[in-house]
Amino acid sequence: MKLGLPLQVIMSQQDTHIHPIFDQLLARADKEKLLKQRARVFWFTGLSGSGKSTIAKGLEQNLYQQGYFPQILDGDNVRTGINNNLGFSEEDRTENIRRIAEVSKLFLNCGVITINCFVSPSIAMRDQARQIIGEDDFFEIFVNCPLEVCEERDVKGLYQKARSGEIKNFTGIDAPFEAPENPALQVDTHQLSLEESLEKVLTFTLEKVAFEPQSH
Ligand code: ADX
Repeated sequence: MKLGLPLQVIMSQQDTHIHPIFDQLLARADKEKLLKQRARVFWFTGLSGSGKSTIAKGLEQNLYQQGYFPQILDGDNVRTGINNNLGFSEEDRTENIRRIAEVSKLFLNCGVITINCFVSPSIAMRDQARQIIGEDDFFEIFVNCPLEVCEERDVKGLYQKARSGEIKNFTGIDAPFEAPENPALQVDTHQLSLEESLEKVLTFTLEKVAFEPQSH
């Protein structure tokens, strides 16, 4: 057995103590080898309507078609499930991001490529995520689009509601957004077409997830 301990010993230890190593009988590297990919977390940050989810969907589809195993985590979806008890105060957003970072870390250990789309409006929140996930596996992608353009697009009609006061604490209107100072990648979606944005992100991600058998 990999750990050098009989299963019943591990089981009895689990009765009384917490042994995180117990669920690592198979290492991340074993799962990456099976999936023939490097697990990574690509963290898309940007204003609502900047194009995070649209690019992420294209990326997921492309990676899948090339034989990779990606998973998207998206604010709008996660907030109806695991984070359905959280709102948009700074405290709740911080908790939202913390939980997502922890979930991403679990996915990382499953060998999965995780594509996260969260406004994640402050540098501190994203730094927390980076810390939880680990510097080497966390790639911050800034989906940059001026507020005026996002507001003009107003795909979900939320900017209008924020302007009228129907929605409070809306990022970019009456809640802050701190742009990343040194993102791993920046995509200016007001200047690039969707295809161009996707191409840029895909080139970046493929290089990070490429599997090199000799490294395992
Ligand atoms: S975060 O700030 O905690 O990272 P998250 O990415 O999960 O936000 O959710 C953002 C999405 O929730 C937006 O795309 C938008 O559809 C919706 N939303 C609803 N209320 C707000 C708000 N006050 N500020 C920002 N987004 C909001």
